[in-house]
Amino acid sequence: MKKIGVAIFGATGAIGQQFVRFLANNPLLDIRIITASKDKIGKRYADCTSWYAETSGNGLEIPDSIAGMHLSETSLAAVKEAGGVEIVFSALPSDVSRDLEFQSAEAGFWVVSKASSNRRDPLVPLLVPEINTEHLQILPAQRSKYKFGGNGAIISDPNCTTSGLVLALKPILDNVGIKRVVVTSLQSMSGAGYTGLSPVAITDNVLPFISGEEIKLRDETAKILGKFQDGKINNATFPVYSSCIRVPVDYGHMEDVYFETGNECGAEDLKRFMKRFRGEPQEMGLPSAPDCPIVVREEENRPQPKLDVNTNHGMSVVVGRVREQGEGFRMMVLVHNTVRGGAGMAVLNAEYLAKKGLDKMAFKESLSA
Ligand SMILES: NC(=O)c1ccc[n+]([C@@H]2O[C@H](COP(=O)([O-])OP(=O)(O)OC[C@H]3O[C@@H](n4cnc5c(N)ncnc54)[C@H](OP(=O)(O)O)[C@@H]3O)[C@@H](O)[C@H]2O)c1
Repeated sequence: MKKIGVAIFGATGAIGQQFVRFLANNPLLDIRIITASKDKIGKRYADCTSWYAETSGNGLEIPDSIAGMHLSETSLAAVKEAGGVEIVFSALPSDVSRDLEFQSAEAGFWVVSKASSNRRDPLVPLLVPEINTEHLQILPAQRSKYKFGGNGAIISDPNCTTSGLVLALKPILDNVGIKRVVVTSLQSMSGAGYTGLSPVAITDNVLPFISGEEIKLRDETAKILGKFQDGKINNATFPVYSSCIRVPVDYGHMEDVYFETGNECGAEDLKRFMKRFRGEPQEMGLPSAPDCPIVVREEENRPQPKLDVNTNHGMSVVVGRVREQGEGFRMMVLVHNTVRGGAGMAVLNAEYLAKKGLDKMAFKESLSA
């Protein structure tokens, strides 16, 4: 299969670096252009990027094929000039990303975004390819409302914490239903980006509030676990109560999750549902798909970010301490925020689209097949 050309908006940041890492040797996708903010335009990637992706335990240098690439302006014009691009990835701050996502889709590009800019739009699917590819059926309505040209479409990725929670909840929802969820996240520092957090504020400290995160965790979970019916995405109706806390950990968001199920079951049943959970990326053998999206640990003291964040290259969510408590159950969930909660998920989404066929008509046919 001919490789599909991609652009990375914001290639130098926490998420952008993981895009570079995931895409450097991808068999389906080929980086054609990388961008950053004004001051870095024209510079070699390796000369102006403090490479942190390796400190997330991946042990890699900047890939050779990218180290010498020059950074371009973050604009639609630059993407067009680069040529050969079909998918635009955004790893930009939300306020910078919003207009660019629309401009790119209007110009006929697929947009796969890590920014929250358009996640709340009912016509924009929040794609987790193991869970809700049926939500892509909203795209014809999106294209028609926004008059996107060619194959233009916007797909958003969930927030990093939500990515872990929904994967752990999906097999439970499918097997025994869910009545309610109460979740407290312990989120790592890299979740704020490389320049987003003051070292003075977080050293030896715990911050009990992360602006905007609790609402994202609640609303995005409902959207992703909802059903596509009657031409729209109908949110899941069980309530999600959330608290989001910043902790002095480099990579990996932990989530302490209490939930009540709709039907009777035991902790062993829940573990079995999660262990055997697979989705379309696994069936299709997509290059970035882990063999199992959820790894269940039996030890009392797992998962831990230090030991488990890179499970299956950071693409599996790790669940532990599944136990009965009160009227429901409790478990710990760990997600690699810049990989499964970040660029890894976006790349998996793009691989899914690439395999299904980017062309609009081919894509529609494969959806109804
Ligand atoms: N960090 C996470 O765990 C995580 C997880 C999921 C989603 N997200 C979302 O992903 C996006 C990127 O997050 P991040 O953590 O990677 O942030 P980051 O480390 O601060 O990186 C931001 C990137 O955007 C570029 N940029 C910033 N302002 C720009 C401007 N005005 N024009 C052009 N480029 C600009 C930066 O380039 P320079 O290097 O030149 O400044 C850098 O490449 C955000 O929307 C975030 O909410 C983050």
